[in-house]
Amino acid sequence: MVSGPEVIAAHYEEVSPFWKSHKRPFYVPSLKNYLVMVSSDAQIKELVEAPETVLSLHAVAKDLFKPKYTMNDFEVHDQMAANGSMHFRVLRTLLTASLPRIMPELRQVSHVALQRELAKGSIGSQGYGWTKLHLFDTAKRLVSAVNSHIFFGEELTNDADFRDAALAYPQDVFVTGEILQFTPSLFARPVAALCTRRGKAMKTLLRYLVPVVDKRIKSRDLDIPPSEKPRDCIQWVIDSSPTKERWTTKKTVQEILALWFGSVHQLSMSFVYAMFDLVDNPDYIKLLREEMAAASPASGAGGGDWLASLDGLQLLDSFLRESARLHPSDSISVRRMALSDYRLGDGTLIPRGAWACVPQRAIQRDPALYPNPDAFDGHRHLGSAESPPALLTDPSPKFPLWGLGKRTCPGRFYAASVLKMMVGSMLQDYDFAVEAPQGKRVFTWRSAIVPRSDVVIEIRPL
Ligand code: HEM
Repeated sequence: MVSGPEVIAAHYEEVSPFWKSHKRPFYVPSLKNYLVMVSSDAQIKELVEAPETVLSLHAVAKDLFKPKYTMNDFEVHDQMAANGSMHFRVLRTLLTASLPRIMPELRQVSHVALQRELAKGSIGSQGYGWTKLHLFDTAKRLVSAVNSHIFFGEELTNDADFRDAALAYPQDVFVTGEILQFTPSLFARPVAALCTRRGKAMKTLLRYLVPVVDKRIKSRDLDIPPSEKPRDCIQWVIDSSPTKERWTTKKTVQEILALWFGSVHQLSMSFVYAMFDLVDNPDYIKLLREEMAAASPASGAGGGDWLASLDGLQLLDSFLRESARLHPSDSISVRRMALSDYRLGDGTLIPRGAWACVPQRAIQRDPALYPNPDAFDGHRHLGSAESPPALLTDPSPKFPLWGLGKRTCPGRFYAASVLKMMVGSMLQDYDFAVEAPQGKRVFTWRSAIVPRSDVVIEIRPL
């Protein structure tokens, strides 16, 4: 067992005040669905190894985000095989392989984006040189600019109109998905248009993306050598799409929109939580700066060599894993919708239409798995003579942050590198302090744990 019943009970309480009166599966009002939580090693293994024809991640995504109405008529199939595996090749293989090349560019993009924010920020309360920014909004703008650079290329990212639309779009999808939960399907389209200001962000993205994608699709037969092709996700999606039944421009753009949607929010939230943990555990600010300086011997403490050896920053890796362990942006993970009744080996039934999931927040605070679980210990995952280190990107039943099994997040190597680059840049370039009005830093929405947008960070260049 990875977690005892008390852990699940604690988690039930977290997602539903009515847990005590329910037997599994039970209806969770805040999730608006029947939920079966699995937390033993054996059950989790069964969940991730179950046939995808019966337990489907994409059916969950379709239910939550209504891609038909939010992603330009995107038809997502409950049967995951029908959706193909392009995203794994693009994110897990091509994007990951390009990380050493793109990280310096992305650091520069993030630097420029932060300068834009600082130019708009108000004067901080801590004296000369300090600037106040809203932390979560700033994080979303930085992550959106960085991701846009590698998804869409420099030219589009430098266009303020496109950048604003790219930033607004994921938020539009979340809000529309929520409202459509309560809307009869007959009215879904007009309601979707209303809640996204007539689909303003999506229309802007389409206006920019359609001609670019169209042109690149047409040049697919020209045998352009790889070194002369643009090196961004648009190109990788086109190159990884089927060669026989070719995708239309519309379908290609839908796929790009879906990938874009998934790339911004969780990464922004992880950055915010890492900043909270740095401020709450200031000893690590010094220790992490020392580690970065040691990785940059040639250029001294102010150099940028640490970026070339991100994998060598073991304390930073362990610190970020600890931050994600204590502060995941969602209290559940590994969601799967049952397309027909499914019974686990111990008899637990996941009825058709219900979700099964893993209570990651509860598991990640289980004292049986993590001694002194509520204490922040940035060294916790470094390993010892007896146990190997656990890396930020290592999925496991006791750390299901990235999901598990075949569907484990294909963007995790990119996400972890960007997170390290952003946190490393803050450590190297700025002093910072965080203040939360009334001390409240987060709110919960369904199972998500979201940073409050009124939390302020004050920063000063070093
Ligand atoms: C800290 C940031 C992130 C976290 C915590 C995270 C977490 C997750 C989780 C829990 C899943 C579901 C896996 C499962 O149920 O087994 C997932 C899937 C996915 N993630 Fe991430 N993710 C992050 C960042 C990203 C980024 C930056 C991208 C794109 C660049 C991305 C792309 C995807 C895609 C495309 C899937 C769907 C995989 C599929 O359909 O099989 N993620 N992610």
